[in-house]
Amino acid sequence: MSERFITSTMNKRDQKRDKTLRPQRFREFPGQEKVKERLELFVKAAKGRNEPLGHLLLSGPPGLGKTTLAYIIANEKGANLKTSSGPVIEKPGELAGLLTSLQEGDVLFIDEIHRLNTTVEEYLYSAMEDFFIDIMLEQGPGARSVRLNVPRFTLLGATTRQGMLSAPLRSRFGLACRLDYYHPEDLIEIVKRSAGILNIDIEEDGALEIAGRCRGTPRIANNLLCWARDYAQVNADNIITGSTATAALEMLNIDDQGLDEMDNRILEAIIHSFNGGPVGLKNISVTVGEEEGTIEEVYEPYLIMEGFLVRTPKGRQATPKAWRKLGITPTYGTNDHPQLEF
Ligand SMILES: Nc1ncnc2c1ncn2[C@@H]1O[C@H](COP(=O)(O)OP(=O)(O)OP(=O)(O)O)[C@@H](O)[C@H]1O
Ligand SMILES: [Mg+2]
Repeated sequence: MSERFITSTMNKRDQKRDKTLRPQRFREFPGQEKVKERLELFVKAAKGRNEPLGHLLLSGPPGLGKTTLAYIIANEKGANLKTSSGPVIEKPGELAGLLTSLQEGDVLFIDEIHRLNTTVEEYLYSAMEDFFIDIMLEQGPGARSVRLNVPRFTLLGATTRQGMLSAPLRSRFGLACRLDYYHPEDLIEIVKRSAGILNIDIEEDGALEIAGRCRGTPRIANNLLCWARDYAQVNADNIITGSTATAALEMLNIDDQGLDEMDNRILEAIIHSFNGGPVGLKNISVTVGEEEGTIEEVYEPYLIMEGFLVRTPKGRQATPKAWRKLGITPTYGTNDHPQLEF
């Protein structure tokens, strides 16, 4: 059940809620201080010169605010924002249509930019660098190319997999910013802000509890807040106290370290089925019944950051912290795993 807090297709009610919760300005966006500082300067400088923004890449795990920041940047710059997504643009002609529909200074947001196909990507290079594209008309001996000018636009790319971006594309972005998991103080602020907007009665301890169990991710914090509201409405006078939040989250099998069912299943698989690893992603994927990409993109980064898992050249390995979490003494000596100290 808890998976729905990580990747879910949103229904209409969720979409509406998501829209109202999205901060519109930098000052309404808690956390990511370093990135925000850079972006504010970036926007200020372009505004001062009265020029379009340079191309910008935002990367980081899902739900940390890439799309939100794209809207904020366009807002602060006073530019129009057009959005698209890597897998949607299938042919160079579609890209050409999209680019020529822009006006000078517009921001084109391409989400999941790592999923652009290589042909389309190559056409994007000249558009980003020199603001034109050469489109081939017809094929075979009669083939000829037509040059289309593109207005000076800003490409704002977002990706959860920066490593999958080709080097030539990456190098064409003037600025690249990576978002990281949020600190608890920022998450408390986010939870309180969302509770205020949604008119949810929450005590400090309740906010603390949700902030500590949302895997450092605002999207999950907001989802858990709404779940706790439902729980409080049915079980506890509509007020989210610390103990109400704890009970609500326990019902979703989210533990006190913020790990959800799938996180725990991954650790259990590595430890119980593969004696702590090292084990390849494919084996983990088959054992827990989740796609390799999702494990790599959604679950692993948090488990690594929290020190439950390490990546080694031979595969994924559970750390002593993971063993202790499952209440098991490691069944092998340090010699087998010299990089880990037990
Ligand atoms: N710093 C923040 N303050 C308040 N709310 C935030 C913040 N960052 C993200 N959110 C909220 O979290 C939700 C997810 O944010 P967003 O859609 O921007 O994430 P994303 O990085 O684009 O995720 P994905 O990779 O899945 O597209 C949104 O509802 C947004 O309102
Ligand atoms: Mg997004």
